Amino acid sequence: MKNIQIPKDSRLCQKDFIFGVATASFQIEGSADSRLPCIWDTFCATPGKIRDGSDGLLACDHVNLWRDDVKLIQSLGVDAYRLSISWPRVMFADGSLNPAGVDFYIQLLDELKALNIKAFVTLYHWDLPQHLEDKGGWLNRETAYLFADYADKISQALGDRVYSYATLNEPFCSSYLGYEAGIHAPGKQQKAWGRQAAHHLLLAHGLALKVLKKNSPNSLNGLVLNFTPCYAQTEDPADVAAAQLADDYFNQWYIKPVLDGAYPKSFALLSDSDKPVIHDGDFAIISEPLDFLGVNFYTRTVYQACAENGFAPVDMVDAPKTDIGWEIYPQAFTDLLLSLHQQYRLPPVYITENGAAMDDKLQNGVVVDEDRLGYYQAHLLALDSAIRQGVRVDGYFAWSLMDNFEWAEGYLKRFGIVYVDYQSQQRTIKQSGLAYRDFIQSRKSC
Ligand code: FCB
Repeated sequence: MKNIQIPKDSRLCQKDFIFGVATASFQIEGSADSRLPCIWDTFCATPGKIRDGSDGLLACDHVNLWRDDVKLIQSLGVDAYRLSISWPRVMFADGSLNPAGVDFYIQLLDELKALNIKAFVTLYHWDLPQHLEDKGGWLNRETAYLFADYADKISQALGDRVYSYATLNEPFCSSYLGYEAGIHAPGKQQKAWGRQAAHHLLLAHGLALKVLKKNSPNSLNGLVLNFTPCYAQTEDPADVAAAQLADDYFNQWYIKPVLDGAYPKSFALLSDSDKPVIHDGDFAIISEPLDFLGVNFYTRTVYQACAENGFAPVDMVDAPKTDIGWEIYPQAFTDLLLSLHQQYRLPPVYITENGAAMDDKLQNGVVVDEDRLGYYQAHLLALDSAIRQGVRVDGYFAWSLMDNFEWAEGYLKRFGIVYVDYQSQQRTIKQSGLAYRDFIQSRKSC
């Protein structure tokens, strides 16, 4: 397979459907010495936390190579670029803006604007300043207010350069993986902490969204959530109930407060000591109306009933998987969008991340990643199917523009449509990237 093929009458073939590529600050920027330390620097420096023992000190050296990277983005012919701003790069510990850090993003955004590439900016893609973690991080309610202050100052500084702001990327990962499972920074591990961090992140989102709407009323202002749809292993009511519980815990926990102003009913199942502290008025803040919802989708999980936790994931041994072990199951993408559409009054949706890690090899200057190309083909068709069934989706971003630091996996997992040789920092567009480019170009004429 060499091409992405989508029926010509698809919404995906209309010119105003936005196609883009996505990255995040810590994963690509490097130049850690020109910003404050963040929780991921600390986590990387803790032995045993990152699979290959690596860190983000150099990453893709994007802070130095950004002009070339913008040319690369332009060469892909995309409509938009989703990036994140590093809070510790643009703010000093006293809460004042760091002019050098701000200037880096201003130059980048100006270049994107000059090339007519829409900037989708995420304000928090997990790189919490370490000095805030030292005061409790997302367990400290004050962090939510400091985030809103950061959103206020940076959005004023960036002026009208930003097409779309997202407050947070995947609060599930920041709270559950960071404070409950302990496999992401800051590596804390307690159920009550995960729940409390989630609540403060949602609060931070609501406070910041209000600020963004005021400072940047012409931007699309919203939130990016990840979803891993939950399926029951069998039709046995116990398995079905287990999958529903898991869905509440991992998915609905983050969207329901935002769109409905309440946690899912299974909140009542938490023991009193695991329940987060919630103040009067919090849900009114959290449910500030969104201009858009960003949806990140990669895979699904299958569950069975389990006496201890209520639900337990099942390893789908024979299913096709990506190099990171995530099942390839495009139908879940359609199912997810339809179920969100049925359950909620959704704002316009953008798919802010979708993609696959594959075991790529650069040989004779090319990367033949047919497996990733197949993943994109199948998922774009799954998206098309959801749109045909009535879901409003206005854009799609491939994760990722280029291979980068994949969190606890270090540099071992490659998600890019562009290959990065970390020794030479040379970028090579993979076959999937060329196909993505060609599809976007063909769309313009249909
Ligand atoms: C998402 C993250 C992104 C990347 C992909 C593979 O959860 O938002 O940074 O790591 O997974």
